[in-house]
Amino acid sequence: MVAIAAIRAQNAKFAAQKHANKVCVFVGATNGIGESTLKALLTLLSSPTIYVVGRSASRWEVQHQQLRQLNSQAKFNFVQAEVATIRGVDEACKQITASASKVDYLCMSAGYFPIVGQIKTPEGLEQCFTLSYWSRIRFLHNLLPALQQSPRPRILSILAAGHDTILREDDMGLEHNWTIPNFAKQSSTMKTLTFHRFAAQNPAFTLIHTWPGFVLTDVERKPKPGAETNFLWRWTFPVLRSLGRMVMSLRAIPLEESGQRHAFLLTSEEFGPGVWRFNEYCEPSPRSEALEKYVKEGKQDAVWDFTVATWEKALGSGKS
Ligand SMILES: NC(=O)c1ccc[n+]([C@@H]2O[C@H](COP(=O)([O-])OP(=O)(O)OC[C@H]3O[C@@H](n4cnc5c(N)ncnc54)[C@H](OP(=O)(O)O)[C@@H]3O)[C@@H](O)[C@H]2O)c1
Repeated sequence: MVAIAAIRAQNAKFAAQKHANKVCVFVGATNGIGESTLKALLTLLSSPTIYVVGRSASRWEVQHQQLRQLNSQAKFNFVQAEVATIRGVDEACKQITASASKVDYLCMSAGYFPIVGQIKTPEGLEQCFTLSYWSRIRFLHNLLPALQQSPRPRILSILAAGHDTILREDDMGLEHNWTIPNFAKQSSTMKTLTFHRFAAQNPAFTLIHTWPGFVLTDVERKPKPGAETNFLWRWTFPVLRSLGRMVMSLRAIPLEESGQRHAFLLTSEEFGPGVWRFNEYCEPSPRSEALEKYVKEGKQDAVWDFTVATWEKALGSGKS
């Protein structure tokens, strides 16, 4: 485990170097670990330009006031978009690239634990899979030209590194095999493999995939069982969730600490160009022979082709 005191010391060292004029894009920083990472990063940078992609302009007004206190020189841009759709991601990227000539840091953390089961987006994709994979990779793809303008572009995806071990090749989109464990493994394996593809084509890129561990974040906006679900499930769900949180709290990483750790990973020169996987304590995730074999075999190309086909299908769905 890398002790939090060591992380704070490294962050302080980075802050003292007065890194100026970084452009940072955050997707998922309206809450939780992404917000905590943004707060930590704001204390490390001089005169950054920050793009926050989120759903609610009125909630942003409140959050904006708090963030301004952390760095009075920071320039904030709120990009209102629904990132659970590919069209929404495209719209957000259009807004960002209209004013940002480069992107130095891209931090993605939108998502949730899909305990309520599958939810379909208007584009016909599973929502949690979209937030965790299809949409995040679309951001990376769309922002590629702006990232390539940065001398040291760094991309951080907070999801499930370490679960990225097995790829279900016969049903890549989990059309027929969606379960929570399958979703966790598939979305994270696809994420790491696609990161390898981007790294091979962009030698200056640092791409980091993390497992944040258990972090007690606000549950209010996370999906709940809908009116169409069984009454018993709707009734027991809050009780089970509270019990789950009680158990999790025994091992939970404090939210502020998680933000410091992710800001460290995002900025630290220790982790140069290439693909990195970390656990909640900033230790490298366990090696996976299967993952290494996939990379050697070039499985990332098959994942990429499937990703592009899925985007096209979603965009061709005719709904938004
Ligand atoms: N917390 C943990 O213990 C834990 C453990 C392992 C993995 N993770 C993963 O880490 C990531 C961050 O988790 P977190 O705990 O920080 O989550 P969080 O506090 O719930 O924040 C999630 C972010 O995602 C956005 N989001 C959620 N659903 C959305 C939707 N349908 N459409 C658009 N945006 C949506 C939220 O936007 P709003 O503010 O608009 O709601 C918020 O910005 C997630 O992918 C999660 O699965 C978390």
